[in-house]
Amino acid sequence: MQLKGKTAVVTGAARGLGKAIAFKLAQMGANVVLNSFSDGIYKTAEEFKASGYNVVAVKGDVSKPDDVKQIVKAATDTYGRLDILVNNAGITKDKPMLMMSEEDWDTVLNINLKGAFNCTKAAGKIMLKQNSGKIINVSSVAGRYGNKGQANYSASKAGLIGLTKTTAKELGAKGITCNVITPGLIESDMTEVLPDELKQNYLKNIALGRFGTPEDVANVVAFLASEDSNYVTGQVIDIDGGLVM
Ligand SMILES: NC(=O)c1ccc[n+]([C@@H]2O[C@H](COP(=O)([O-])OP(=O)(O)OC[C@H]3O[C@@H](n4cnc5c(N)ncnc54)[C@H](O)[C@@H]3O)[C@@H](O)[C@H]2O)c1
Repeated sequence: MQLKGKTAVVTGAARGLGKAIAFKLAQMGANVVLNSFSDGIYKTAEEFKASGYNVVAVKGDVSKPDDVKQIVKAATDTYGRLDILVNNAGITKDKPMLMMSEEDWDTVLNINLKGAFNCTKAAGKIMLKQNSGKIINVSSVAGRYGNKGQANYSASKAGLIGLTKTTAKELGAKGITCNVITPGLIESDMTEVLPDELKQNYLKNIALGRFGTPEDVANVVAFLASEDSNYVTGQVIDIDGGLVM
């Protein structure tokens, strides 16, 4: 119960990595604001409540500052504070770059990168007043090393690394840490649709010889959200079973 009395906001928490991260933080005692832009967030919240956890669901689009205000307000209105922000919401719209539409570029950048900026700005103001806070951004190995067919996605995820380091520098003096994780291939709805051949190719290069699970990611986020990581900030942490090293 390391996070008892703390409040976390997890974006994109209806399923996949976000849901696993939110579940882990709740297991550690945190109150959690679950956000997603799909109605699935209400069902997820019911599952959490049935397990005895304190959560509130807020449907909203992280790329819209007005929605983000409501997400953050739910934390302070319901629990009186905001200690942990996990910028997890993300989408893909893959295509070879020369065939990628401007709309697909803008949509992915707006959700994956501007969404994190919007949430960091809104949550950061509260954390500044509290003189503490933990911000964890969910990037990807694609943001570190690029990926064919993912110009928009990898640019958004690389942007998150720059956003993380700047946030760490701007807010560090107030006791706020900001780190970014770069998961490799994790079993989720997002990766389920990838062609089998591509997955097998990845597998050959993963030192641990298996794909990651959402729980593998949640365990690292739990460390970064806890006081055990108080002297860790501005860091990029690969969670990829040794895919790239
Ligand atoms: N699965 C992987 O292998 C993998 C690897 C590296 C990074 N990631 C990153 O992890 C994060 C979660 O991925 P996942 O595999 O769980 O994906 P997913 O598609 O299963 O879940 C994404 C979640 O984000 C929500 N979402 C999408 N757009 C949103 C918006 N505008 N506002 C609020 N919520 C929104 C969805 O409703 C959903 O709950 C993403 O940022 C993704 O880029 C995933």
